[in-house]
Amino acid sequence: MKGAHFLVAFLLLVLSTSYVFAYDPSPLQDFCVAINGSKDGVFVNGNFCKDPMIVTADDFSFSGLNIPRNTTNQNGFNITLLNVDTVPGLNTLGISMARIDFAANGGETPPHTHPRATEMLIVLEGTLYAGFVTSNQPYRLITKVLNAGDAFVIPIGLVHFQFNIGNTNAVAVAAFNSQNPGVLVIANAVFGSNPPIYPDVLVNGFQLDRDVVNYLQEKFGDNSH
Ligand SMILES: *[C@@H]1O[C@H](CO)[C@@H](O)[C@H](O)[C@H]1NC(C)=O
Ligand SMILES: *[C@@H]1O[C@H](CO)[C@@H](O)[C@H](O)[C@H]1NC(C)=O
Ligand SMILES: *[C@@H]1O[C@H](CO)[C@@H](O)[C@H](O)[C@H]1NC(C)=O
Repeated sequence: MKGAHFLVAFLLLVLSTSYVFAYDPSPLQDFCVAINGSKDGVFVNGNFCKDPMIVTADDFSFSGLNIPRNTTNQNGFNITLLNVDTVPGLNTLGISMARIDFAANGGETPPHTHPRATEMLIVLEGTLYAGFVTSNQPYRLITKVLNAGDAFVIPIGLVHFQFNIGNTNAVAVAAFNSQNPGVLVIANAVFGSNPPIYPDVLVNGFQLDRDVVNYLQEKFGDNSH
């Protein structure tokens, strides 16, 4: 009798472990608030599907990626993102790409993460210092100096940056395994959120003086991105 109970328990265990392979798919967006019924529509990345009979090649294409972008701005970089917003045909296909221009002598993509994608960066022109930080303590910094023709992988979700250490413009192409990778720029998210995070949270969280927090919130609060 005892043996039979054990057998049943063992079989249940075997059956339940087979469900371990079922897991949630990666999210396509920051959140998806549930609604009942289809009358209000089902939005995935805010897009319905176009009737296949009226789809054209324009839905799947983008031009002008050979043209250098203007990098005269605060951080000295300019990103031309080919995602589901700019190339509608990418919807549901799980990929996006970007051209990134860096100003000479210090243009950079400031420390940021892509919550939903691994990135692969290929340098076409110039010299970039690129790095990412691992997510478990001790937080290791992994960096590499990249010249034209070099590629670098940034694993999904990790804080990373690219910095132009050359005295010429730099150009890179980035590929992401999501149609909507998300871009969380650390400084802007923490010090420039709307509405602002209660300063005491940042004074404690970052171990900063209150006037430093005020300064940073003023500096990043004006940014619209
Ligand atoms: C959806 O419908 C169920 C059953 O009628 C109800 O219990 C639930 O609260 C509804 N959820 C929403 C988000 O309206
Ligand atoms: C990026 O470059 C384009 C074209 O050169 C320009 O119109 C745009 O304002 C630039 N964006 C930023 C953030 O500088
Ligand atoms: C680049 O953008 C800056 C700032 O908006 C502007 O002053 C400058 O004229 C632009 N340069 C070109 C080549 O368009």
